Amino acid sequence: MEVIVVKNYQELSEKAFEMLKALIIEKPDATIGFATGSTPVGLYQLMVKDHLINQTSYQKMTAFNLDEYIGLPQNHPESYYTFMRTNLFNTLDVNFDQVYIPAGDARDIVAEGQAYEVLLDKYPIDFQILGIGTNAHIGFNEPNTPLDSLTGVVDLTEDTIKANARFFENDPSQVPTQAISMGIASILKAKKIVLLASGASKAEAIYNTIHGPVTAEVPSSALQNHPNVTLIIDEAAASKL
Ligand code: PGA
Repeated sequence: MEVIVVKNYQELSEKAFEMLKALIIEKPDATIGFATGSTPVGLYQLMVKDHLINQTSYQKMTAFNLDEYIGLPQNHPESYYTFMRTNLFNTLDVNFDQVYIPAGDARDIVAEGQAYEVLLDKYPIDFQILGIGTNAHIGFNEPNTPLDSLTGVVDLTEDTIKANARFFENDPSQVPTQAISMGIASILKAKKIVLLASGASKAEAIYNTIHGPVTAEVPSSALQNHPNVTLIIDEAAASKL
């Protein structure tokens, strides 16, 4: 596991952008796995700015997202579909036929998960961007998710519901309690994984990711089993290392 410690959030976003841009220049038809949450927003802003200034093209890219809430319609302001459109895809020149986000409002959610996994095998992810929860979740794979899990329905923990209530008028009762998420094994199929973490609230999860035992109690510890993982973390997230 490569660990890059940067000074602050701005430098984290710049480092991640540098790596992603190098890939898309070298391999315009790369498959990129995107994440939601606050952490990758700085990276997405740099991608948008660069696209507008330098016309870096994403037309040939295939894109996947890690997860989606169950129970929100696609056009809900807090769906991850809306998040990705607003923060990134609507401004880039993406081909929307090659953009995959699990449908949280699918009638048969189990079949949706299975179909997503088939797509992931068809277009293997070259570069997976990951955030991490304070409880070390990756995607929406909460502690004690089996490490061999594939895309499917997951229950959100109370910690995660509380953390995400900030997007739902600070009202935890509005936060969906389930999601459809790429599993831990699905994430580990990516050729390269780049995990971003900023702030002291992530310091313990980062310590356990790197130094803890590989255990389902710490979903991110599964990354120790992957040959090509880079952590880009700021000094606060690195403070317990
Ligand atoms: P955050 O979320 O980037 O908003 O901290 C990360 C996550 O929960 O995976």
